[in-house]
Amino acid sequence: MEKAFTFFLLTILLLLHHVMTQTNITTDQLALLSLKSQISSDPFHFLNESWSPAISVCHWVGITCGSRHQRVNSLNLSSMTLTGTIPSDLGNLTFLISLDLGSNNFHGKLPQEIAHLHRLKFLDLSFNNLRGEIPSWFGSLHQLEVLNVISCIQINKQEIIKDEKKKQKNYPSPHNSLCFLKKI
Ligand SMILES: *[C@@H]1O[C@H](CO)[C@@H](O)[C@H](O)[C@H]1NC(C)=O
Ligand SMILES: *[C@@H]1O[C@H](CO)[C@@H](O)[C@H](O)[C@H]1NC(C)=O
Ligand SMILES: *[C@@H]1O[C@H](CO)[C@@H](O)[C@H](O)[C@H]1NC(C)=O
Ligand SMILES: *[C@@H]1O[C@H](CO)[C@@H](O)[C@H](O)[C@H]1NC(C)=O
Repeated sequence: MEKAFTFFLLTILLLLHHVMTQTNITTDQLALLSLKSQISSDPFHFLNESWSPAISVCHWVGITCGSRHQRVNSLNLSSMTLTGTIPSDLGNLTFLISLDLGSNNFHGKLPQEIAHLHRLKFLDLSFNNLRGEIPSWFGSLHQLEVLNVISCIQINKQEIIKDEKKKQKNYPSPHNSLCFLKKI
């Protein structure tokens, strides 16, 4: 009897924990609004007009949601002439499969929290002004098939070579500032 009660109690606690730590589309919305707040210039008003809490996140410019979970699975802000930094909150978009921020003026450091995007397959950060080296935590993005960071991040060559050996990935670039990674 006592055992059964303990079991019951544990089950309730686990359920409670699950409910309290569960994320939903609101999580995605908050992460995206955080990104918007870091944009200092949006001359063509791409985000200012569309990224509003009054509109469902899945209808915002540059956003695609998955049909199954109704969570953001693609963020594409490429060539929108945006200036800003990338907030760590972007790592909360855990359903993200594709992230394209290419050809803008994102600057500053790439937050380590991007490593939380375990479903990420496509990442394009090319033609921005991000600084720093390709971080070692890139290796934790196991689903990543395409990584395009041309002229945006200085590559830590040793890291790449190490990673290449480990994962048999292909880096056709001879230059330090160019990197294209493709899973074979
Ligand atoms: C998302 O979850 C939070 C609690 O974690 C809840 O308050 C909120 O109503 C949920 N939003 C939706 C759209 O389900
Ligand atoms: C993102 O997740 C972290 C850790 O769970 C949390 O502290 C932060 O408030 C979240 N950011 C947003 C914008 O919701
Ligand atoms: C952005 O939108 C808000 C309200 O929609 C407006 O007050 C503000 O002037 C706009 N900013 C720019 C830069 O257009
Ligand atoms: C993002 O949008 C641009 C312009 O519409 C398009 O050329 C590009 O292929 C898109 N990126 C992805 C990853 O779909």
